[in-house]
Amino acid sequence: MKVFEWRGKPVWILKRTPEMMASLALTENQVADPQSLHPFTMDIPDYCKNQTRSRVEHKEILVTVGICSHLGCSPSPKFQSGAQPSLPDDWHGGFLCPCHGSTFDLAARVFKNKPAPTNLDVPRHMYLSDTKILIGKDEKGEA
Ligand code: FES
Repeated sequence: MKVFEWRGKPVWILKRTPEMMASLALTENQVADPQSLHPFTMDIPDYCKNQTRSRVEHKEILVTVGICSHLGCSPSPKFQSGAQPSLPDDWHGGFLCPCHGSTFDLAARVFKNKPAPTNLDVPRHMYLSDTKILIGKDEKGEA
């Protein structure tokens, strides 16, 4: 995972392994908004209203704003699966907000019954090449 600053906000770019991608089917029923129908601070691009929340040409890459939708703390990566403090025993990897315990899966979808009301933001983005991503803009325009 790499962290960049975009418009004063941290943007995470996470390249997910096949195991991480497979975990999204396992968390599908545990997250509050599996298809990302409810936006946080910005419209969700149509290409991210799906289980992986990523563009079809690089499904393994997640681009998300690392700001919790509860009160704005920055969640911490918790990529190791299995039981550990503050996480459920069947943890498949994701993110934990240190402020009030909201948890997010590896597509930054919030788990049910947590203080955070929505998934993390996914900004518009597009691939200029296989190794270059433009954040804040896509074929439909600028965010
Ligand atoms: S700010 Fe993240 S759970 Fe409250």
